[in-house]
Amino acid sequence: MPGLFDTFQLRDVTLRNRVVVSPMCQYSCVDGYANDWHFVHLGSRAVGGAALVMVEATAVLPEARISPQDMGLWSDDHIEPLARIARFVHQQGSVAGIQLAHAGRKASTRRPWEGHGVVPEAEGGWREVVAPSPLSFAPGYAVPRALTEDDIQQVVRAFADAARRAHEAGFLVLEIHAAHGYLLHEFLSPFSNQRADRYGGSFENRTRALREVVAAVREVWPKCFPLFLRISTTDWEKGGWDIEQSVELVRQLAPMGVDLIDCSSGGNVPHVKIPAGPGYQTQFAERIRCETRVPTGAVGLITAPAQADHIIHTGQADVVLLARELLRDPYWPLRAARELGYAASWPAQYLRAAPEGAQARCPVGLEELERCFAEHHGIPAEAAKDK
Ligand SMILES: Cc1cc2nc3c(=O)[nH]c(=O)nc-3n(C[C@H](O)[C@H](O)[C@H](O)COP(=O)(O)O)c2cc1C
Repeated sequence: MPGLFDTFQLRDVTLRNRVVVSPMCQYSCVDGYANDWHFVHLGSRAVGGAALVMVEATAVLPEARISPQDMGLWSDDHIEPLARIARFVHQQGSVAGIQLAHAGRKASTRRPWEGHGVVPEAEGGWREVVAPSPLSFAPGYAVPRALTEDDIQQVVRAFADAARRAHEAGFLVLEIHAAHGYLLHEFLSPFSNQRADRYGGSFENRTRALREVVAAVREVWPKCFPLFLRISTTDWEKGGWDIEQSVELVRQLAPMGVDLIDCSSGGNVPHVKIPAGPGYQTQFAERIRCETRVPTGAVGLITAPAQADHIIHTGQADVVLLARELLRDPYWPLRAARELGYAASWPAQYLRAAPEGAQARCPVGLEELERCFAEHHGIPAEAAKDK
């Protein structure tokens, strides 16, 4: 079994180790644009040695944002500031990924440090939020308008358009966000989906919107690059979405080109009791990996290097995603490598502080990427060099 600092290949992309920066909203954009904060925040985690740096939940439409300050990729103008970040991350030998999202009924809310609940239109919120059914998440949240079938098709197209832009920005990994009570999770769970049409009711119907998003995204996302899916593996409440349905969903989606399941949980039922503790969601990554043979990512209260190494060594997951621990310490991967006795590459600029024998970083292999790009766009490899 590999360890935390062994490489991991998915399609034509090789991760230098198994540590992934979990997507984390920074609530710091104006009109959805990435800015200096995101460049430094994400760039630091690449310098710190993570193998994959995932950009936060990025809205596929303006009304898909959780807060007015969320990241967006609903127009071509959003590409360039993200491309600058992807370029820097790749120079550090990390792979740049991005999570695409639609907040559904949890949209147009305040960023966490400015209170809770709905942001009114006068303060930059939007007039209506949308969801599978007109059911509010909790008191203080808006009652959403139920999406029509045409609206659903627009959302599907918006995911595909944003995926095309993510490719243009130079990202090598794309993640679809179908967790935490946001739109795609809302379709999956009977608690938030009470539709009577072909998008609600049976398992087949509740999973349809997500299947359509995956199919549309896979059309435009290059074959050589991996597609991740984040799901809430359980609602933690009887009668809702659960691990059995998650396993079945993964069996359906893997043949459609989903390469890794990022196994989170919860977020669709307020005040539900979650037995949070070290690695509390890892069991779900293990079960899905074991029962479907599809690679998984474990996330949730993974903080100690030995704990993360153990998850990989024992085959519970293929990668670990860290969120808060990487906010505390962006250099966690370099520290973990030292503690566990693995070799890790360091930025050349920092080599004088590195453990003896450490190698300088190599950027992510451009030649391979140019070949992928050329293949995807049907152009000669030479022409791909300028893209
Ligand atoms: C500041 C912050 C922002 C987050 N934003 C996102 C997000 O954009 N997308 C997402 O799927 N999860 C988001 N999460 C959840 C994390 O990715 C992660 O799943 C969760 O924090 C558990 O991991 P941890 O125990 O390592 O923090 C966020 C978490 C934090 C702390």
